[in-house]
Amino acid sequence: MRDTLQTLDDEFAFQTSGRFDLLAGEHVAYTALGAPDVDGALRRSIERAEGVTTVVGRMGSGKSSLIAAVADSLEEGFLPLRVSVIGVEAGDPAAFARHAITEIRDLPDAQLTRHEAHALDRAAAEHRTQIATRELRAGFEIAAGRILTGKVVGDIKRVAAEELQRAADPSDAMRGMQRLFDVFWKLKRCPVVIVEDTDHWGGSPELADAFFDQTSRAFATMDAAMVVATQSDYTRLDGYQRVRDKLTAEVFLPQLPDVERGLTIVLQRRMSLAGVQAPVHDALEPEGLQLLSQSYIESVTDGRAGDLRRTLAVMRAALDIALGEPTAQRVTRGHVEEGMARTPLVPSSAL
Ligand SMILES: Nc1ncnc2c1ncn2[C@@H]1O[C@H](COP(=O)(O)OP(=O)(O)OP(=O)(O)O)[C@@H](O)[C@H]1O
Ligand SMILES: [Mg+2]
Repeated sequence: MRDTLQTLDDEFAFQTSGRFDLLAGEHVAYTALGAPDVDGALRRSIERAEGVTTVVGRMGSGKSSLIAAVADSLEEGFLPLRVSVIGVEAGDPAAFARHAITEIRDLPDAQLTRHEAHALDRAAAEHRTQIATRELRAGFEIAAGRILTGKVVGDIKRVAAEELQRAADPSDAMRGMQRLFDVFWKLKRCPVVIVEDTDHWGGSPELADAFFDQTSRAFATMDAAMVVATQSDYTRLDGYQRVRDKLTAEVFLPQLPDVERGLTIVLQRRMSLAGVQAPVHDALEPEGLQLLSQSYIESVTDGRAGDLRRTLAVMRAALDIALGEPTAQRVTRGHVEEGMARTPLVPSSAL
C-alpha cells in the first residue's frame, strides 16, 4: 500500500498543471459522475455551428476540462482553433480578430491537421461509417474524410497572412476574420474558436465585460462557432447580461450529485493514468474520502460545481504529508485535514 502511495507521488497522479492538451485525457464525462449530461449539451451547442456558447463555473470547477474533452471528441467536420486571450485587448473585436488571425497563421501545421487525423482514427476504431457530407444549416455543410493535407494547410496560412496585411483598419480586421472562416467552410470544415484561458482576466472586470459586450457580440454574428470559458462571476457583469440573449447556449457546470462517488471516479482515473490499478480505498481510507468530499462541498454555491482543482490539490498535499510519515500505509482523515489547512479555499473567481 505504501508502494502505491509512492508511485502516485512519483507519477504526479493528482497534479493539476492544467495544460489544455492534457486535460481531455483526465476528463471524466459528467454522466459517468452521475451528473446531467453537460458534455452532450456542449457538443450539441457546438454542432449547431453558429454563435457563442459559454461554459460557466467557478474557478477550478472544470470548464477547461469539459471544453478540452468535448473539442477533442468532435467529429472531423469541426475544427477546434484555440485562441488565447493573453496579451491581447480582448474587449476590442478588431484587435481580437487580428490576434485570432495571427494565431491561426502561426499554428504549427501539425496542430491544424491533428484533430482531423485523431477524429478519423477514432471513427475507424468505432467502425463509424459516415455520409460524405452533412448539411448543418442552409449553405453550410461539413464533409467526412481527410481534407487538411499539407497543401491545404499551406493555403489556409497564406490567406491568414494576406488578411493580416490588410487588417490595419478595424472593419478590415473583422472582414478578414470572416474571409478566413469562409476558407474553412469552403473546405467543409466548421471553425470552432475556443477561448479557454479567460481566468487571466482575473482582477480586470472591465476587460471581461468588454469581451462579452463587444467581442463575443461581434463573433456571434460570424459564421463560426465560439466557446468561451466563463467564470461564474463574469455572468453578473452588465456586458454579459447584455449579450446573454444572443448566446447559442450557456452550459452551467453542475455540482457532483454524489460527491464521494464522483470523487472516487475522478481519483481512480488519475490513479490508472499513473499506472496504478489498485482501488482508491487502497490509497485513501474511507474517512479521508469523506473529509475530501467535504472540502469539495465547501466550495459549492447554488448547487453549481465546486472547486475540483482545490480538491485534487488537497489530495496531493495529503499524499505528501502521508509519505512524510515513515509508517503511513494509506492517506488518512488526519492527512486530509492537514492537506486542507495547507491548501486554503480560493475565492470563486479572481474578479
Ligand atoms: N470532469 C472532470 N473529470 C476529471 N477531472 C476533472 C473534471 N473536471 C475538472 N477536472 C480536474 O479539475 C482541475 C480543474 O479543472 P479546470 O482546469 O478545467 O478548471 P477551470 O474551471 O478551467 O478553472 P479556471 O477557472 O481556473 O480556468 C483539473 O486538474 C482537471 O483535470
Ligand atoms: Mg480553465
